[in-house]
Parts: sequence; C-alpha cells; structure tokens
Amino acid sequence: MTPNSPAITELSTFAVDVEQGLSSSPKHIPSKYFYDAAGDKLFQQIMAMPEYYLTNCEFEIFEQQKEQILVAFGDNPFELIELGAGDGTKTKILLDYFLAQKADFVYRPIDISAHVLEHLVSDCARRWPDLDVQEVAGDYLEALTEIQQEATGRRKVVFFLGGNIGNFSQTQAVGFYRELASHLAPGDLVLTGFDLKKNPATILAAYNDPAGITAAFNLNLLHRINRELGANFDPAQFLHWETYNPASGEARSYIVSKTDQLVKIKQLQLSVHFSAWEPISVEVSTKYNDRDIKMLATQSGFEIQTTFTDQKHYFVDSLWYFKINS
Ligand code: AVI
Repeated sequence: MTPNSPAITELSTFAVDVEQGLSSSPKHIPSKYFYDAAGDKLFQQIMAMPEYYLTNCEFEIFEQQKEQILVAFGDNPFELIELGAGDGTKTKILLDYFLAQKADFVYRPIDISAHVLEHLVSDCARRWPDLDVQEVAGDYLEALTEIQQEATGRRKVVFFLGGNIGNFSQTQAVGFYRELASHLAPGDLVLTGFDLKKNPATILAAYNDPAGITAAFNLNLLHRINRELGANFDPAQFLHWETYNPASGEARSYIVSKTDQLVKIKQLQLSVHFSAWEPISVEVSTKYNDRDIKMLATQSGFEIQTTFTDQKHYFVDSLWYFKINS
C-alpha cells in the first residue's frame, strides 16, 4: 500500500501504526498508545506502586533541591515549557516554590491529551490565580514550533521529566534532542529526568509488579485495539513479559501470545497470525549512567550545567544548556 492510497489516508495514525507493527517481523506497537483513558488511570496506579521508585525519587529531588534548581536556572524571566506535562504533580512542587520566591516565569505545559491538560490548567488556576499558564495540546515538537513562533524574548527552560526519555532508544534520544535544539536559542536550558542503571532486580521489579498493574497497563493496548479498531483480541490468551538487559540498560516489555491463534482487525481488514509464544514488543525503558548522559548531551549539542540526584542515586534530573545553533 502507498501512503496515498485511499484506504490508508482514511485511517488514524493509531490504525496505521498498529497495521504496520503487527504486519512486521518481529511484531511491535509504539508505547505511546498505552495512554487512552483506561491507560492513564493504570499509569497513575503504576506511579503509586512501591516497586515503581522513579516517581518518588524525582519527588525527593524536587522537594529537597528546589532552591538549588531555581538558582541553576539563572536570571528571570523565563518560560517554563513542560513536554508531556500530564497531571504536573511533581512540577507543582517547583511551581509553588518559584511563585513563593516571586520568580518571573510563564508556565507552558504541553501534552498530547487535551483532557489531561484541562485538569492541570484548572488545578493551577485554583491554586495560583496569578500564575500565567499557557497550555498547548499536541505533539511535543509540533507544539514547540508554535511556541517558538511567538518569540516572547524570554529564555526557555524545557522540562522533560519522569524518565520519559527512557522510552526512546539511545539513538532515538539523540535525534529527539537535536530536533528539540532546533527550537532553542543558545543559553536555553533543558531539564531531563533520567532513570539510572542500578541493581537489575530493582529495575525488573518496577516493570513486573506482583499485583499485575503493569501487566494490565500493557494488555490494555489489546482492549484499545478491540474497541477502536474492531479487533477480536482475547487478552486472556496473552501475557505480559518483562526483560532487563544490564549491558544495554534496556528494560523491554512484551505482550506474548500463549497460543497459536488468528486475530481479526475489522477496521484494517487484517487477520494477524500469532504463533504460540510469539511476542509483540511494546515498550523500551532505557536506563542511563553518568557517562551515557554526558555522551548524549555532547552528541546532541548540549553541555551539562548541573545534575540533581536523590539519596539512593537511583534517578537524576540533569540540567543542560544549549550552546550552538546547529
Ligand atoms: C512513561 N514512562 C517513563 C514509563 C517508564 O518507566 O518507561 C512508562 C511505564 N511503563 C511501565 N511502567 C511505566
């Protein structure tokens, strides 16, 4: 099929990605499709799980080092742009402190989910009526283009928190930062949350909880394909499987077919054959060490200004400044 064929142009990008991913060998589906309404709720539950240490580590960093973080941002005024803001729970710790310090900044949360943004904006308005919030619903980099065109003259401080960068491979991450850099001016800053390499058992447990919340989160993808694309997946015939490779730093999630089976996806007019124990690759969560982070910054045209870490050294918020307009 060509990209211009009528069948394809009428399909959503979700449908196109599912069609391509399930027709490939090995099979794969991008993890961004986890986040429908049910997926958003399950992800909230994941963040509250004792095994999923990432959230608490970044909380601790913000709670205990908010003063140093504001100092590191340098002179006001700035635009605080948050990519994938979600409910902004952790960011609110900083917003609260920055406002108390009378910092001069505008908060610009970006999220693909208009629904999630609406909540965030109304919560900010309730808590801080004087805070200037200018949200943008959409894809990160497209929204940045919109923001860039407005040219407010304020320095940009871009937040990419929560270990979201891990959902790219290391090669994709370089591409992402280079693209991000094309929207920045020299002196602009980027604060990224990186989950660090650590005891493999700790990492594996974060993605393979005994309560089965992560399994439900991953298998929800099949429910979503059933609902939105008219498929007949029986999620009970699949299982969640997690691996962590300490050499590459990649935690990988798979949905594995328990049996030899045929699944029909009506909207795609597609039948997908699964052999017994065949996997669909659904997520990579890449872990870093200090050397990996330095290399990533250098390859992407940034320099590390400073890093903030938690007491266990499980997680790092790394502040980079943009040097050149490449
Ligand atoms: C959103 N992202 C950073 C999470 C992660 O850790 O890769 C998504 C997630 N998947 C399973 N648990 C959490």
